Amino acid sequence: MTTKIAPSILSADFSILKEEIQEVVEAGADYLHIDVMDGHYVPNITIGPLVIKSIRPVTSITFDVHLMIENADMYIKEFAEAGADIITVHYEASPHLHRTLHLIKQLGKKAGIVINPATPVEFIKPVLHHVDLILFMTVNPGFGGQEFIPEVLDKVKQAASWRQELGLSFEIEVDGGVNQATAKLCKEAGVDVLVAGSAIFNDENRMEAIEKIRNA
Ligand code: DX5
Ligand code: ZN
Repeated sequence: MTTKIAPSILSADFSILKEEIQEVVEAGADYLHIDVMDGHYVPNITIGPLVIKSIRPVTSITFDVHLMIENADMYIKEFAEAGADIITVHYEASPHLHRTLHLIKQLGKKAGIVINPATPVEFIKPVLHHVDLILFMTVNPGFGGQEFIPEVLDKVKQAASWRQELGLSFEIEVDGGVNQATAKLCKEAGVDVLVAGSAIFNDENRMEAIEKIRNA
């Protein structure tokens, strides 16, 4: 199966966000990765449901909404109504994971769980059968343009082997520091979806940037 590419709009030019989105969609993106940060869980503030709602009519591409916020349960419904298709929550910020994942599914959305580079993959084993996607952070969340942390790939391999053993079908996604070189390592480890922000939006030729990562 070909690797899916999810451009992260964190590195887009927000003054022309509509055009930036259209460009990566036309360039062959599979998902649009949207980073939501609250200034508490991570040291940065980005976008909320309002922006998601306003870009929803621009495209029918799958919106992959990465919540880096505290009290996610309070806002999930709003993100679902704004147009999210996949909603991922951080293990580290979700004390009642079953409840949170159930809430996302009840709203008819795909539920994903995210873990930080230093969080053991064993911690999410109890909920594997409740998720549509696992997102492995390959940087500490908060900013684009950081360096890829290769140790995370061992966790990816473990998740891929559990998936096979347990007959599950969740997707495996990585986020942070993905470029042509690191994409190759990710694919070898069993990654299905590659998020890339700076590697795509800092390249004038978005189509070429996407293809370079996809075919790494
Ligand atoms: C970081 C975000 C990422 C970010 C990745 O906290 O979750 O999605 O945009 O940016 P790059 O690809 O530049 O590392
Ligand atoms: Zn992200």
